[in-house]
Amino acid sequence: MNEKIRNKKVAESLTETTKLLQYKDINGQNRLFGGRLMEWIDEVAALTAMRHCGGLVTTCAVDNLRFKYGAYINEVIVLIGKITYVGNTSMEVRVDTYVENIETGIRRAINHAYLICVHVDENGKPLPVKYGLEVETVSEKAEWEGAVKRNKARRLRFNDGY
Ligand SMILES: CC(C)(COP(=O)(O)OP(=O)(O)OC[C@H]1O[C@@H](n2cnc3c(N)ncnc32)[C@H](O)[C@@H]1OP(=O)(O)O)[C@@H](O)C(=O)NCCC(=O)NCCS
Repeated sequence: MNEKIRNKKVAESLTETTKLLQYKDINGQNRLFGGRLMEWIDEVAALTAMRHCGGLVTTCAVDNLRFKYGAYINEVIVLIGKITYVGNTSMEVRVDTYVENIETGIRRAINHAYLICVHVDENGKPLPVKYGLEVETVSEKAEWEGAVKRNKARRLRFNDGY
């Protein structure tokens, strides 16, 4: 593991974005097209990881993308990306997606995903992430511990060839 300059807080790279569902985002069943949501999730994860490492990143793996509920035209979609783990060159980012009730502000979770983003140079070569992660809250600690387990599971899957 490389030496880190300092630890950054999860809040320093937290990324929230809001989308209004339009016809271009809808599939043949009048629901949010999963591919569009995956694009937004990938972008939020990349922005979160870029803010953490202070440079370029590439998506290395998407893990545990879970579609719990659909979303429909004119609904307000909120995506929130948070760093959960920092390795040597890689970072794990959790992206939660919600439908927001604009009257009450209540958010219903429709998807969550974990992505691995790797810090890279202009040629796409992995670079060490200079900043560690300051794990402050109980939930941040649980995410970090979960990431260690997910990392092990990924390695097992990788060694098994899938
Ligand atoms: C991501 C990429 C730069 C990694 O390059 P690499 O030569 O495999 O580099 P490494 O083996 O050193 O792995 C780099 C990091 O990624 C992690 N990693 C590699 N494969 C992984 C996988 N399948 N799942 C989770 N993490 C993985 C490694 O553990 C390492 O993390 P660490 O440095 O924190 O320990 C390279 O595979 C790539 O360019 N892929 C294409 C990315 C792309 O085009 N994305 C856009 C979507 S198409």
